[in-house]
Amino acid sequence: MTTIFRLDASIRHEGSVTRAVATSLESALLAESPGANVARRDLAQAPLPSATWADALAGSHIPEAERTTAQHRALALASELGDELSDADAFIFAIPMYNFGVPPHVKAWIDVVIADPRFSPRSTKPIAGRPAYLVLARGGAYGPGTAREGWDHATGWLKLIFERSWGLDLEVIEVELTAANANPALAEFRDLAAQNLESAHAAATDYGRALSGRLGRAAA
Ligand SMILES: Cc1cc2nc3c(=O)[nH]c(=O)nc-3n(C[C@H](O)[C@H](O)[C@H](O)COP(=O)(O)O)c2cc1C
Repeated sequence: MTTIFRLDASIRHEGSVTRAVATSLESALLAESPGANVARRDLAQAPLPSATWADALAGSHIPEAERTTAQHRALALASELGDELSDADAFIFAIPMYNFGVPPHVKAWIDVVIADPRFSPRSTKPIAGRPAYLVLARGGAYGPGTAREGWDHATGWLKLIFERSWGLDLEVIEVELTAANANPALAEFRDLAAQNLESAHAAATDYGRALSGRLGRAAA
């Protein structure tokens, strides 16, 4: 059976743009591939315990028999996260920008995944070439010529991990100006924000349909 791994990270449930756009992609896929299984991990709802990464790292450098209980647990969790990725045929990552970077629970998740030897930068890239979709949302705008050009420290790093380190075949759906309705300072950009959101949902729907075709061809 085809499995899609979906990661959510927004601390909002109501009104979350990343969740809504990721759902457009997922719904379009499931409309055409109703048998696909979606494995979910919601890092905002269930963040990893904060000591996991350090325990996994320390445990990985000593013989199994000498590991503490916390180190065993942390390495088991790293392995579980690695299995979730290895078992999936495609990926949807829905990640907002917080404080000009990635949410701390996403950074923690990536660090722990990399503690699994299968996902270290020196690994043989077990999920390389598989399709992945990164849905990003930012309250402001960061493109060339904007006042905050160069302030986005989330997108480049996430692409580095997903595309270059893990070798995924990555498409990125970006939604900017999501704070335009709530922030009076961005009021003049509300129409642009609405267009931006509509385009993101349309792109997500197209990607969902295309993914169904691609997975169907791969299974045939
Ligand atoms: C704690 C927090 C920090 C944020 N920091 C930034 C930021 O640095 N730059 C930005 O453009 N938007 C920032 N935002 C706005 C979010 O990126 C925006 O609301 C986005 O749509 C959140 O994703 P979501 O709609 O899926 O919840 C922040 C939002 C929160 C709650």
